[in-house]
Amino acid sequence: MTHRLDLDFIRAQFPSLTDSPTREWAHLENAGGSYVPSQVIDLITELFSHAKCQPSWDFGPSVLATEAMDRSRLVMAELFNAGLDEIHFGPSTSQNTYVLAHAFRAGWSEGDEIIVTNQDHEANSGVWRRLADTGIVVREWQADPVTGRLDVADVAVLINERTRLLAVTHASNVAASVNPIRELADMVHAVGGRIVVDGVSYAPHALVDVKALDCDVYLYSAYKTFGPHIGMMYTRADLLDEIAHQGHYFNAGISSTKLTPAGPDHAMIGAAAGIGDYFDAIHSHHFEATDTGRFARTSELFDLFAAHEESLVAPLLAFLRDRDGVRIVGAPEADHTIRAPTIAFASERHSSAEIYAALIDAKVSCGHGHFYAHRLVTALGLEPEDGVVRLSAVHYNTAVEIDRALEVLDATC
Ligand SMILES: Cc1ncc(COP(=O)(O)O)c(C=O)c1O
Repeated sequence: MTHRLDLDFIRAQFPSLTDSPTREWAHLENAGGSYVPSQVIDLITELFSHAKCQPSWDFGPSVLATEAMDRSRLVMAELFNAGLDEIHFGPSTSQNTYVLAHAFRAGWSEGDEIIVTNQDHEANSGVWRRLADTGIVVREWQADPVTGRLDVADVAVLINERTRLLAVTHASNVAASVNPIRELADMVHAVGGRIVVDGVSYAPHALVDVKALDCDVYLYSAYKTFGPHIGMMYTRADLLDEIAHQGHYFNAGISSTKLTPAGPDHAMIGAAAGIGDYFDAIHSHHFEATDTGRFARTSELFDLFAAHEESLVAPLLAFLRDRDGVRIVGAPEADHTIRAPTIAFASERHSSAEIYAALIDAKVSCGHGHFYAHRLVTALGLEPEDGVVRLSAVHYNTAVEIDRALEVLDATC
């Protein structure tokens, strides 16, 4: 048993890293979408081959489909330390927040207040801001225009007894700084408000205990965390009684349909259980078997992931810190308790498009621009289309891949 990540074993689980032409690329665009392990691919194949039908009936393939979806719900509940009724699948986080905004608004009155940030991805921002058209007062918690980081002192003065909601990211997909969700939840709950947390960029790097965070909603996109292209949200049990049903009228009272106005992608939901199967395969390769449950064993694994991810981005951040005219967005340190391993930066000497092009030439997968954190990149004083260059690692990346990126940056930055 080894307690350092066995990267060969891990990478062998991902066809994109072994069998396909994609393996020639150093995939550092994980914040846009991660690769998928064979545990997930096998489930997709199985469900499309043997259970591609309407679930909930008594014929064989339908039973299989139902069982697969139920298993995914259970796996997600266990991974997030949530209850089964607190897990909702939807097409994507952007569409889940769209539904949530309608569900919340029905319980609010004109003059009620909500707080959004300008650090968030637009998915957890625009839908809330639009409620201003319906008489809701929208306040903006602004990130520091130099570092892109949020300061809790700045939101403390925005919270008052009319605050109904704070929508905030756990870690921005550009600034990557980890926001203190438990502290924010306590502040908002003290005035009877709710907190909606965008965990899309955080969850690939740390196991999330929604009860410890005491959040009301936690948003997650499975396709950024080694799964199929679906969104999932945790909604705390007592919140469901407070927000309006968004499903068909005759399903009112069925919690699993409350935030699901359309039929979901059954096979992809079923395949999401493969994320848990993947973690289990990696866990049993690195640790003795335990009977402590999925959350505890996966948590051990994420400690290894975090240590490895820190070791990957530390040299990248050190290089960027030392480079004249280069600005790192978010925290300049690799410490995983402070930032996710998503590194966005801009250079005074070269446009982000030029640096991006050089990285692509060297077969480093990455992107540049605003990454839908348009408000943040604009607030940083950058032209959003050129924006920042973003290199984002996950646990399957290697030091060799980072070195390839560093070689290019040394020549172009
Ligand atoms: C931090 C963050 N939140 C939300 C989203 C939107 O997720 P989805 O594509 O599932 O709508 C993204 C997508 O890039 C993201 O990075």
